Amino acid sequence: GITRHYKFDVKLQNVTRLCHTKSIISVNGQFPGPRIVAREGDQLLIKVVNHVQNNISIHWHGIRQLRSGWADGPAYITQCPIQTGQSYVYNFTIVGQRGTLWWHAHISWLRSTLYGPIIILPKRGIPYPFVKPYKEVPIIFGEWFNADPEAIISQALQTGGGPNVSDAYTINGLPGPLYNCSAKDTFKLKVKPGKTYLLRLINSALNDELFFSIANHTVTIVEVDAVYVKPFETETLLIAPGQTTNILLRTKSQYPSATFFMTARLYVTGQGTFDNSTVAGILEYEKPRNFHSRNSIKKLPLFKPILPPLNDTSFATNFTNKLRSLASAQFPANVPQNVDKRFFFTVGLGTSPCNSNQTCQGPNGTMFAASVNNVSFIMPSTALLQSHFFGQSNGVYTANFPIYPSIPFNYTGTPPNNTMVSNGTKSVVLPYNKSVELIMQDTSILGAESHPLHFHGFNFFVVGQGFGNFDPNKDPANFNLVDPIERNTVGVPSGGWVAIRFLADNPGVWFMHCHLEVHTSWGLKMAWIVLDGKLPEQKLLPPPADLPKC
Ligand code: C2O
Repeated sequence: GITRHYKFDVKLQNVTRLCHTKSIISVNGQFPGPRIVAREGDQLLIKVVNHVQNNISIHWHGIRQLRSGWADGPAYITQCPIQTGQSYVYNFTIVGQRGTLWWHAHISWLRSTLYGPIIILPKRGIPYPFVKPYKEVPIIFGEWFNADPEAIISQALQTGGGPNVSDAYTINGLPGPLYNCSAKDTFKLKVKPGKTYLLRLINSALNDELFFSIANHTVTIVEVDAVYVKPFETETLLIAPGQTTNILLRTKSQYPSATFFMTARLYVTGQGTFDNSTVAGILEYEKPRNFHSRNSIKKLPLFKPILPPLNDTSFATNFTNKLRSLASAQFPANVPQNVDKRFFFTVGLGTSPCNSNQTCQGPNGTMFAASVNNVSFIMPSTALLQSHFFGQSNGVYTANFPIYPSIPFNYTGTPPNNTMVSNGTKSVVLPYNKSVELIMQDTSILGAESHPLHFHGFNFFVVGQGFGNFDPNKDPANFNLVDPIERNTVGVPSGGWVAIRFLADNPGVWFMHCHLEVHTSWGLKMAWIVLDGKLPEQKLLPPPADLPKC
């Protein structure tokens, strides 16, 4: 591999959307931010310079960061934030990965405007395991807020209620013609007939899983989370925040006398107020040379896709069940066949006491909270990775994350009276190279909801999933240990569970959290600590000299 240099100047930029101009934080004056393009095996040196008043940190979502945890990015987990006027060089090498990933700010809600694609091409001379595309196009979904997202979440955390929802979804930063004042802010994909396009989809929305479809076109899913899958065709797909999906779009063989919308809209199972608007982009066939101008493209009929209803869980289940690792000789699925350590985690919403003299806006006058195994994670004031590396955990974190020997209660039955979470900065410590099985069970303590759980530093295999309570006596018999999907973000189904397996071969401190930003803010997050192995190449590298200080 080669070394590639990037510079990210984080600064303010004026952007107008939905007839509303505001100053946003972005990179190099671009919104969405610049693309990182590299090949498998390359080293990246990305210098991030903070020119704004906020503290900043950037996460390279899905990059494994083997032994380079200092470059992972979540603020107060692997690094202190980059302060105003300071800079930090993220230094990492892409090992054994190729596909679509993305980068985003990893502090408070700044990722609402600080995000962009990461495109990792295969090593030179290694083809894709599918037809060579004519063109490749990144398509990144986002959420636009007219108000300041930082103000929205800080107000919600003060009052204990749910935060205001966004004003629009966007495709590559653009809301599209179904929103007020936005016809000119529409993403257009110009295509030629009879060609294959590789669309690299990324869901960067803060709080919403999305359905996506292109009218009158079937697409082929070929990769998720930078892992090749067994290709399958679909008209509609589902993508959760944090996930990426590569699709092949084969255009019609003749120039069609129509234009086509591509649209995305919410999939959700919980209760509450949701943004149920639709973002649309346009798939436009380029006019052939001999095309007569009186057949102006504007007069062509427009086709709109039909998306599933907002709570279509059966579509979601069918779709995720179709995802399988390619598991070929060249791209094997190295599923751990034996398990050294088993864990059972509950994930879900709960409440915490109203701690002020005001009236709290959460359920029954409490504050909304969220937890893993009933622990709502409290962010430390210094970074966990430094504390761990220098043996200074005292007063920063504890290693006593609760481990349940068996399943404590029925998560699908009557909720317990006490919905209160406990608080703490607790972690699980894993010896090097243990193979781990983790069951994540959504609770119905405060209404069931699907949670896209994201793991830093690892890909994992989704060996099983189901609805209701996980049954340790029955369900493991149905686990797929042959070609389960490998990914970095998995939806724990509403009122159900998933089982994942991974090998703890990456020493460091690794964040795991719900990628719905509001749930992360409420505490649905925790940290794993993976210890060094004995050999030098099994140890976390030492911290770089420019690592930010708290
Ligand atoms: Cu994409 Cu911890 O995040």
